[in-house]
Amino acid sequence: MRLRFLTAGESHGRGLVTIVEGLPSGLPISLEEVNKQLSRRQWGAGRGGRMKIERDQVTILSGVRAGVSLGSPIALLIPNKDWERWQKVMDPQLPGEDTAQIAEDSRLGRLGKVTIPRPGHADLAGGMKYNQDDLRNILERASARETAARVAAGALARALLARLGVQLGSEVLEIGSVAAKARPLTSYSSDETWQELEGLDQSPLRCADKTAEREMLSAIEQARENGDSLGGTFRVAARGLVPGLGSHVHWDRRLDGRLAQALMSIGSVKAVWVGLGKEAASLPGSRVHDPISYHGEYVRESNNAGGLEGGITTGEPLILGAALKPIPTLYQPLESVEIKTHRKAKAQVERSDTCVVPAAAVVAEAMVAWVLAEAYLEKFGGDTLGDLESSLAVYRRRLRDY
Ligand SMILES: Cc1cc2nc3c(=O)[nH]c(=O)nc-3n(C[C@H](O)[C@H](O)[C@H](O)COP(=O)(O)O)c2cc1C
Repeated sequence: MRLRFLTAGESHGRGLVTIVEGLPSGLPISLEEVNKQLSRRQWGAGRGGRMKIERDQVTILSGVRAGVSLGSPIALLIPNKDWERWQKVMDPQLPGEDTAQIAEDSRLGRLGKVTIPRPGHADLAGGMKYNQDDLRNILERASARETAARVAAGALARALLARLGVQLGSEVLEIGSVAAKARPLTSYSSDETWQELEGLDQSPLRCADKTAEREMLSAIEQARENGDSLGGTFRVAARGLVPGLGSHVHWDRRLDGRLAQALMSIGSVKAVWVGLGKEAASLPGSRVHDPISYHGEYVRESNNAGGLEGGITTGEPLILGAALKPIPTLYQPLESVEIKTHRKAKAQVERSDTCVVPAAAVVAEAMVAWVLAEAYLEKFGGDTLGDLESSLAVYRRRLRDY
């Protein structure tokens, strides 16, 4: 069975639902751990008022008994904490247009129909595609609130990977024009780096360079005061991976391609790279490729390839990067057009963050965890965790003789 997940839910709806299918039975699932991942997504500077309201907590509806997976679909529910305030606007049972309702919502600062699309969001393209005269019908689902449901799925993938000896982490490298001192790619093999990455959960911007982080914080503050927003870059890393995940034989089995798609699917991510990424384009091959040596097992003295060659894991740490555009909702809104009158208008403002790069890094960890868990299950199969572990052990023994 292929590992897969689906999510459902609107940003201001009753809640978000995630259904995960294909996890083996016998996997310990900790509710605390899932909630911890959800709170990592919400933590950090640059987030708006909503983060203070939300404090996401998951309820497991099915597929787990006494903290252990059953092999059946796992359904997770994350209720939206401010559903009651939004029920009048978002209730699935309300008639389409209720003018008294809309007047009341406007009076309370809750908008009725949204008719001025925000540049940079799915509002206009989605409205045209689905023929909606209320752009809320697009923006509610396009909102990155949905990434909470992905992080919940990712938490289950992480639980599986942890059993297989795989660890994941992330760090912010740039916010706007402020850049942190980036650590060398080889350092992702060291315990010291991983201790530092774990410690970043306490850091306001998930940035290990504290001098740069202070500058980043003031840049965000400045952007907030100007009604503006900031983007940036981050790295996601994983270590403990077995060589041989993914494949060179077909375009859609290459793990680099699959990971890039997973990261690209996060709203605002505009570029993704592996290892050296774009930097490799300007260097000669002799300074890019990682020489191979053998010390009882195959090792690389460098890791410019970021743990992938030919779309297959090499066994070196996986190192991916991603760049985010500044988020599109601006408190000093850009010019737009009202969709009924076609008149010029300032874009509508929804409650919004200023900078989401640290949160996106946590979402990216979840997406990477998902793709890696999928790749493990494809290669080693198993309806039970025990079957999967045995098959991995046999493979590792075979590699020792290669
Ligand atoms: C964790 C996270 C939180 C986000 N929060 C906001 C937000 O508060 N306001 C906003 O305008 N965009 C936010 N975004 C970005 C939008 O979701 C994204 O830009 C939009 O869906 C359009 O997608 P595209 O930029 O990939 O074209 C957030 C993105 C992420 C990953």
